Amino acid sequence: MQKNILIVHAQPEPTSLNRQLVDVAEQALCEQGHVVLQSDLYAMGWKAVFDAHDFPVRADPERLCFIRESGHAYQHGLQTMDVAAEQEKLLAADAVILQFPLWWFGMPAILKGWVDRVFAYGLAYGYQGAGNRYRYGDGGFKGKRALLSVTVGGPAEDYSPRGINGPLEQLLFPITHGTLFYPGMHVLPTHAVFGAGRLDAQGVAQAKAVWRARLERLFEDRPIPFRSQNGGDYPDGHLLADGVAVGQSGLSAHVASDASPGQMQA
Ligand SMILES: Cc1cc2nc3c(=O)[nH]c(=O)nc-3n(C[C@H](O)[C@H](O)[C@H](O)COP(=O)(O)O)c2cc1C
Repeated sequence: MQKNILIVHAQPEPTSLNRQLVDVAEQALCEQGHVVLQSDLYAMGWKAVFDAHDFPVRADPERLCFIRESGHAYQHGLQTMDVAAEQEKLLAADAVILQFPLWWFGMPAILKGWVDRVFAYGLAYGYQGAGNRYRYGDGGFKGKRALLSVTVGGPAEDYSPRGINGPLEQLLFPITHGTLFYPGMHVLPTHAVFGAGRLDAQGVAQAKAVWRARLERLFEDRPIPFRSQNGGDYPDGHLLADGVAVGQSGLSAHVASDASPGQMQA
């Protein structure tokens, strides 16, 4: 069945590995019969900084409260056109791919700024103006698939379970869990290319082939089994129930125990 896929990417250099992976994805997904949209953030001149210019008509001109102004602008159709256009693309998408180079264990600022500005109050958080009623599995992006495709300078060994950097999937938890699952997306295990700065032509060709094969399973792969807020594991909407994830604490407690160990360690 034909699906809509949005690829949001953050690497301005046309010959970079990231851009080559975007091209592979566009081609592979179109060949599968899907419709692909791109948000090429550098080419769009995306404004990365969330600031007062995002609220041309203020609810409170005296004091800039981002959450209040975000909700006000979203609810009353007062958002800037660039933000509204990205929300429209997102809402039309069945799957969203964020393609980026790992910079300081996270997203490049331009992509973080896309999230800060596009994930509005009333849509991605405070859904329907109901505070935290809908989050972690519920929310404005419920049911969409999301996939991080990350190029990583360091070798896979540095990101292995006992590697010096820590496991990549754990490092990316604030994005997979706190940003994408929070407004209701089904987040797939991250796709990573390690040693990305040192790949020769053969390595690049192999990375492209692996990525192409991964994309064949975009709508079949099992999402990371994050626990949903409203699924019973958090009776008061804040704390895990006593009988859930017994003896566990920290980030991994929020992934259901039937998860294969690699899902939080990749
Ligand atoms: C500002 C900056 C921060 C970086 N931070 C990391 C990092 O935290 N971990 C890592 O393994 N590589 C890091 N790198 C290396 C990039 O991940 C690598 O250059 C990139 O994935 C290569 O893909 P590209 O040519 O498409 O940009 C960083 C590079 C830059 C420029």
